[in-house]
Amino acid sequence: MIKPLVAGNWKMNGIAKSATQIINLNDGISGRSANCDVLICPPSTLIMAFSNMLKDSPIMLGGQDCHKNETGAHTGDIAPEMLSDAGAQYVIVGHSERRMDHKERDKDVCEKAQAGWRAGLKVILCVGELNGERSADLTLNVIERQLKNSIPEGSTPENLIIAYEPVWAIGTGLTPTTKDVEQVHSFIRNYLISSLGAEKGSNIKILYGGSVKPNNAKELMSVPNVNGALVGGASLKAEDFAQIIAAYE
Ligand code: 13P
Repeated sequence: MIKPLVAGNWKMNGIAKSATQIINLNDGISGRSANCDVLICPPSTLIMAFSNMLKDSPIMLGGQDCHKNETGAHTGDIAPEMLSDAGAQYVIVGHSERRMDHKERDKDVCEKAQAGWRAGLKVILCVGELNGERSADLTLNVIERQLKNSIPEGSTPENLIIAYEPVWAIGTGLTPTTKDVEQVHSFIRNYLISSLGAEKGSNIKILYGGSVKPNNAKELMSVPNVNGALVGGASLKAEDFAQIIAAYE
């Protein structure tokens, strides 16, 4: 049995006073049955403060991106070792916003994933098709290419999580049909099994992301091979995020 993960990606949102959302979330989920793991990926400026606040909490922290190197002349970048030093246990790599805004290619994503492991972080690796690719019936080709070129050798259920995020569903309120989600997730599952073997491939979590909200979480989370969610907008408010987590109660 795979323990699901509900992860919140705050993107470029959050300042010191957003700590109240973390406190409210912690209060909101405490005492409830822990049927899923809970992760927040705030801006890296907040990881250390949140980590100090969450010492006795089940809420885990992650970074949203990392550089492939450990140190060096890379102005504005953040090394995975810095994320881990600040209290992160996870790092997201290959988010479509990084792929688009920073021209990251599959190869870069692969190197970042390896760097995350080097720092002892669990890696959430994002894949997903653009709107035009879906209309051209290229979804599975795109996903296959991204998986093939960005998943590093040595992947296991302990160090890798895949997040399927159709780009056209991110921040738009649009979601694929559950049938479409099932098709892509089962494709990813089969890919993982055929490339890593049944033992590893069957146990790697595959998250769905893209307009997950309190009102659709239960339906999306019950699709076969959906092992949790990567949530953007609805993770910013503790109340909404706690309701999404409650899909696993
Ligand atoms: P939204 O939940 O805002 O659509 O964002 C999804 C996402 O990109 C999470 O990484």
